Amino acid sequence: MKIEAFSDKDTFKAAYEMGKKALPNDVFCVTGELGTGKTVFSKGLAKGLEIDEHITSPTFTIVNEYRKGRLPFYHFDVYRLEESDEFCELGLDEYFYSEGVCVVEWADVIKDFIPKNAVWINIKKDIEKGNDYRIIEVFR
Ligand SMILES: Nc1ncnc2c1ncn2[C@@H]1O[C@H](COP(=O)(O)OP(=O)(O)O)[C@@H](O)[C@H]1O
Ligand SMILES: [Mg+2]
Repeated sequence: MKIEAFSDKDTFKAAYEMGKKALPNDVFCVTGELGTGKTVFSKGLAKGLEIDEHITSPTFTIVNEYRKGRLPFYHFDVYRLEESDEFCELGLDEYFYSEGVCVVEWADVIKDFIPKNAVWINIKKDIEKGNDYRIIEVFR
């Protein structure tokens, strides 16, 4: 599935719709270059889970937990892992098998540890179509 976004609001809304339908154990893997909108997407998905807390990028902590929504929400940013094995050494893969919903920014960094049922979301710019244009590809 491909979704065109013409602004950050469109990306937020697309993610919001996925968050509304999210089920326990769902894992959403978000990829795309720096500044494409992975965090915007994560915020939209959190809103769809009825999380009203401010979502901050977990770059330095790897994962942030939010427990006040419809389901527990675990927001990862694995960009700063030195190597992918560190992810399992820290026991972080256990979140994927919990009853919550996971969103993983830069999931390609740890692709060997991503469950088979994960949904992958790739966000790309197309500069010819303007600064705020994104193509959002969704596949399982
Ligand atoms: N269509 C769009 N979708 C998402 N973000 C957009 C879009 N157009 C412009 N932006 C802007 O691009 C930036 C994306 O930042 P962010 O979500 O932090 O990126 P990433 O997490 O991928 O590094 C934000 O400043 C956002 O407002
Ligand atoms: Mg980000």
